[in-house]
Amino acid sequence: MIKLSRLASSTFETPHLDKAIAYYTDVNGLVLGAREKGRAFLTSKMGLLTVTLEQGGEARLKRLSFEVAPGANFGDMGKNLSAHGVQSEVRSDIGPGVGKVLAFDDPDGVTIELFTEWQYLGSHHQVSGAGPLKLGHIARLVDDPRAMAKFYCDVLGFRVSDWVEDVAVFLRCNPDHHTVNFFRGPRRGMHHVAFEMKDFAHIQNACELLALRKMPINWGPVRHGPGHNVAVYHRNADDQLVEFFIELDQMKDEDLGYFDPRPWHHDTPQRPKTWDRKTALSLCGPLPGPDYGR
Ligand SMILES: [Fe+2]
Repeated sequence: MIKLSRLASSTFETPHLDKAIAYYTDVNGLVLGAREKGRAFLTSKMGLLTVTLEQGGEARLKRLSFEVAPGANFGDMGKNLSAHGVQSEVRSDIGPGVGKVLAFDDPDGVTIELFTEWQYLGSHHQVSGAGPLKLGHIARLVDDPRAMAKFYCDVLGFRVSDWVEDVAVFLRCNPDHHTVNFFRGPRRGMHHVAFEMKDFAHIQNACELLALRKMPINWGPVRHGPGHNVAVYHRNADDQLVEFFIELDQMKDEDLGYFDPRPWHHDTPQRPKTWDRKTALSLCGPLPGPDYGR
């Protein structure tokens, strides 16, 4: 079984590379760690590669990179993937600080990259934007959330953290309640990309920064049901929804099977379950406007 340790970075194609770089540095608060023709590599304050931007024809999610367990063998992982009918290849052109990756496509055509070797691109950078701690999760719109959940659980060892009726599923690969989630949607593609912040004051500062840049807050602050994260949403330079969040549920012990108890939990203990749609969207705070659904 392939064992993922963390979601490291995501790669987005963008028709407007300079504008996208300006958003991720001046507003989001990542650091331009390196740039080459048609590509830009953005790191967190700590110098971890977090977002790669590639010039292209449309704004879309292209790749997700996961660090796998130390010592994981590419040959063994490739055989494991083959056993599930998934063809993979080793690549070494990912970008600065990342060694070889094992790459393959998921059922919706997003490339998954698995790697063990990486380096920091500098450390303790000063940032001018919000400055998230890390890439948290990627939410996608798909035709069949159950089929995507089966692929990610069977092939990559994800566990189901929560369902919302039969329309949304939240999957974890480490203690974080969700690293990927899939919504049944009116189209196929990314719904939002989410970054973890330090605390509510950090989110408040981000909201004030967005206001100064005249960038509307699309929804929030709100506390969601699944994951119980406090979240606030805006749109980036490519009109993609971006979430800043804190206080995501943690499953620290898989054997216990419940999320670390928190005062805002209504269930005691809080175990993976199926939520109804309205409660799932907001335990505390406003419901979203129509913009959230597109
Ligand atoms: Fe989210």
